[in-house]
Amino acid sequence: MQENSWIPIWPDQASTFALQVDYLYIYLIFVSIAFTIPIVAALFFFLIKYREKEKYATPDEMHGSIALETVWSIIPFVVSMTIFLGGAYVYYNQFRIPDDPAMEVYVVGKQWMWKLQHSTGHREINELHVPVGKKVKLTMTTEDVLHDFSVPAFRTKTDVVPGRYTYLWFEATKPGKYHLFCAEYCGLNHSGMGGYVYVMTQPDFDNWLSGSVSGQTPVEQGRDLFENKLGCASCHAGGPAQRGAKLEGIFGKDIRLVGGQTVKVTDAYIRESILNPSGQIVEGYQPIMPTFKGQVTEEQLVSLVAYIKSLSGVTGTTSASGDSGASQPASNSASNSTTAPRADRGNSNTQGSNPNAPGSRTEPANRPR
Ligand code: CUA
Repeated sequence: MQENSWIPIWPDQASTFALQVDYLYIYLIFVSIAFTIPIVAALFFFLIKYREKEKYATPDEMHGSIALETVWSIIPFVVSMTIFLGGAYVYYNQFRIPDDPAMEVYVVGKQWMWKLQHSTGHREINELHVPVGKKVKLTMTTEDVLHDFSVPAFRTKTDVVPGRYTYLWFEATKPGKYHLFCAEYCGLNHSGMGGYVYVMTQPDFDNWLSGSVSGQTPVEQGRDLFENKLGCASCHAGGPAQRGAKLEGIFGKDIRLVGGQTVKVTDAYIRESILNPSGQIVEGYQPIMPTFKGQVTEEQLVSLVAYIKSLSGVTGTTSASGDSGASQPASNSASNSTTAPRADRGNSNTQGSNPNAPGSRTEPANRPR
């Protein structure tokens, strides 16, 4: 389908992984051929040489050959280790997510579409625009069943799993339009669950960013949920009214739980703490938080996690382009400005600020349960 790949049945090589994966693949084909030909040749040779010449002939006795056995053990060992090392190299490259991605995108799979949101607030459906030559990190989850985010031209894919976050990264090397697939059967319209990744030069990408409407960034959206819609701030804001665990500066750190274990604060831990608050209580706090299971969508969870991370100065992105000013200070000021107003807000709506929470309807939220 692409005219510029050198073997027409292969997709474009459009990421830094592509060449590595293809080399490994070609090597595997080469090894398979190198074993198949001699084996088939030997089969025919022995078939003819040792065909039955006389009835009930007794063959000469044979007591084995150390040299032969050594050779046919060592050669396959060396060959299989080269395959292992090549595979491990490719694997580590793909599945160790870089610490310093230039751009972060949140992905939510859903029967049968991909919903993507940039940390600048731009939203896309079944399309992803990225700049060329930049490391892009995807944080992915799904609202329903298993999906699999797959871009053949980048030679990478990762399952998108209900109830957890999975990650994928790539660095595109060539501007163009590349197929995006769902590579895991997920129901009736699985085959239609795809779209395109548009790899653009940096100026084109900047144009695209400024041309398309950006909504709230995930951090802003998360702050809105936190302070207003879900009322998290009434317990988690600093000041005398603080009843919920402190959220500032915790991301990436180990915190102590009731019972003495420690846990590292990750995306998954924050998500889990919102959905199942009594599962892992931070030492020094009461298990009074109601669950938010069923009340927040995966997209809202992604925003809440992004916001809570921003309280630790983790901004997800420094934006791919020169306009990093937009996202970086924005989230800094977010975490600064939150301290004061949030405290007020926290005091003013201590009572039932979350009308949707199952617990808060019937009993005061501050009574330990
Ligand atoms: Cu989603 Cu297949």
